[in-house]
Amino acid sequence: MAEGEGRFAPGVDAWLAGAGLVRDVVRQELVRRQLADHLPARGQRLRVLDAGCGQGTQAIALARSGHEVVGLDVSDRLLGEARRAVADELSEVRDCLSFVIGDVLALGDEHADGYDVVCCHGAAMYLPALDEVVAALLRAARPGGLVSILTRNRAGIAMRAGMTGDWPAALSGFDACHYDNRLGVQGVRADEPGEVRATLVGQGAEIEAWYGVRLFSDHWAGDTPVDDLDGLIAAEAEAGRRDPYRAVCALTHTIARR
Ligand SMILES: C[S@@+](CC[C@H](N)C(=O)[O-])C[C@H]1O[C@@H](n2cnc3c(N)ncnc32)[C@H](O)[C@@H]1O
Repeated sequence: MAEGEGRFAPGVDAWLAGAGLVRDVVRQELVRRQLADHLPARGQRLRVLDAGCGQGTQAIALARSGHEVVGLDVSDRLLGEARRAVADELSEVRDCLSFVIGDVLALGDEHADGYDVVCCHGAAMYLPALDEVVAALLRAARPGGLVSILTRNRAGIAMRAGMTGDWPAALSGFDACHYDNRLGVQGVRADEPGEVRATLVGQGAEIEAWYGVRLFSDHWAGDTPVDDLDGLIAAEAEAGRRDPYRAVCALTHTIARR
């Protein structure tokens, strides 16, 4: 484990190995679409911080839409992957992207009030406390800016275990707040969607929307073939935007305005 890489470090290899598998494609595409629905129509260049950007999937998608994106992460290795991915992009996309090493909980004054959109996708569950992450993200957003945060959903712990037929894990999952994830990281925190909203509101933000991410395909093994990916994504997107389905998805995507 590289020094400073934090609690996600044991999961980096498995995370990279899972890139491009159906469940990753579903996750990335749903997050991209859900966020895009809250951004102004094409033509307006926004300043975006992707905190915990990892391999840069969303940062690159946002830069392709014409936004100016800073991707920040504690992992040198994942930033290396992001920089490699950017090398294949058109120069106008490359020019909109910069990747920097850094800790979302230690953002310097240079980031304060700095961004129209602050993303933090799939990183909060590896950090000690949700309210600290939310405070850091809101501080980086300009007044009126958007925060897009993707958290692990507590109800998803028993759901996934049950759907894979692991009954002991399902039974212990009903009341669990932490779990050992399939990337190999132990004691990962999961938050209830309502807690995420309450934490944002408690720090002065207004909720724009919240979505579920990944329900039908969450328990699939890495190599599960899918013959209708568009159909799966459409069904997952619909589940993610309506009750009761979004409440039991694996992840919760909350979009709030500072
Ligand atoms: C599951 S990956 C998600 C990557 C990317 N956001 C995505 O959704 O594809 C979690 C990322 O959070 C990063 N991370 C964990 N703790 C962090 C921290 N304190 N500050 C910045 N990044 C962090 C990890 O290095 C990793 O890149």
